[in-house]
Amino acid sequence: MGDFEWYLDFVQRDYKPSESDVLVLFRVEPAPGFSFEEAAGRVASESSVGTWTTLEIDIDWSRIRRLMARAYRLEPPYVLVAYPEELFEEGSIPQFLSSVAGNIFGMKALRALRLVDFRLSPSLRDSFPGPLYGKRVRDLLGVKGRPILATVPKPKVGLIPDETYRVSVEALIGGIDLIKDDENLTSQKFSVFEKRLKAVMKAIDKAEKETGEKKGFLANVTAPYKEMERRIKLVHDYGNPFVMIDIITVGWSGVQAAREITGELKLAIHAHRAMHATFTRNPRHGITMRAVAKLARLAGVDHIHIGTVVGKLVSPKSEVMAIKRALTARREADGKRKLGQDWGRIKPVLPTSSGGLHAGILPEVIRILGPDILIQVGGGVWGHPDGPRAGAMSVRQSIEATLKGIPLEEYAKTHRELARALEKWGRAKPK
Ligand code: 3PG
Ligand code: 3PG
Ligand code: MG
Repeated sequence: MGDFEWYLDFVQRDYKPSESDVLVLFRVEPAPGFSFEEAAGRVASESSVGTWTTLEIDIDWSRIRRLMARAYRLEPPYVLVAYPEELFEEGSIPQFLSSVAGNIFGMKALRALRLVDFRLSPSLRDSFPGPLYGKRVRDLLGVKGRPILATVPKPKVGLIPDETYRVSVEALIGGIDLIKDDENLTSQKFSVFEKRLKAVMKAIDKAEKETGEKKGFLANVTAPYKEMERRIKLVHDYGNPFVMIDIITVGWSGVQAAREITGELKLAIHAHRAMHATFTRNPRHGITMRAVAKLARLAGVDHIHIGTVVGKLVSPKSEVMAIKRALTARREADGKRKLGQDWGRIKPVLPTSSGGLHAGILPEVIRILGPDILIQVGGGVWGHPDGPRAGAMSVRQSIEATLKGIPLEEYAKTHRELARALEKWGRAKPK
């Protein structure tokens, strides 16, 4: 048996990447019997022009050699791979992922593989739209100087539109800016999409008249694409400037197609990341949430969930901060591997913090993430001992106290709703 493999040609330690290269950082664990170099070569090969063997065809090999990806910086367990930008179709996240997160994840020679981070070339970056509003969604609501506040009516599924109307009125009047559907509420028989939309819009109308504040609805349009498009148009017809999409379950093609329509209709996209943890959670395998967040920014969502550090879902502080930087930086810091993405004209995304939050732990969230975020509180509104209006008030009071630098226990002396929330939850971190 001759030496038929082609993989090691894709390891070029002396390669100097250029500005027009796309760089991807992988964490690689070779399977038993394979060296790190052999595993790294496979990653660069199978994600670009290579296959398992050398080829015997008469073509212009100089072009193919130019298009090879190169594993050029090997620092086990990490390897940086440089891809010529011509390998990628402009404006296509599916094609990007079929390359850099495609076959390589299933190769026998790798025990585990993780796509950690990437940097696009300026022209590939500019082939994506980015957010329509991003942080400027604030202008749609007129909220300045404090986090935007959303709530998901709970129980998360099962309410009928009339109940959604009644509870939404309470939360909105109590001080919530946005009613948000839950990730698994779309158009079930008990809450058909258009009926719920109508009910929430009626609640918004009533609350806006009563409070003088602008309110909105993060309406979950997640569905097979044609139906999603119909729902996006309905949301626009009802005069609401927001839709919500479960971006992972819908898939990137759906997100990108939706972004075209929402762009025409001037709607903002709230991105829910349900299902991301199937491939982001294992630190040794999959894709980091930071990389997912960058893809979402390129695709053009306006807000996306990034974690809370203190809430009910796994979200270590270092990871949450890295995601926040990737979403909001104009130019990410280079770090020692020179991966800092310059975002050019692509707008920053508004980070959303959600999952197990209540009045008692909001100061910590704001201390960690700052006030320029969207905060989403579900159980912390609907579980308040005096009901959702008081729940919403307790959350607003907690934010006010934090921004004024007043300890919650002090503020609670003159704010009953906050006091009652603290009686029930104190500073508990939900599990
Ligand atoms: C595929 O997409 O199925 C692979 O590219 C198969 O290619 P191979 O036979 O060269 O491994
Ligand atoms: C969300 O989808 O953001 C969650 O429903 C959060 O709900 P919780 O605040 O009750 O955890
Ligand atoms: Mg939810």
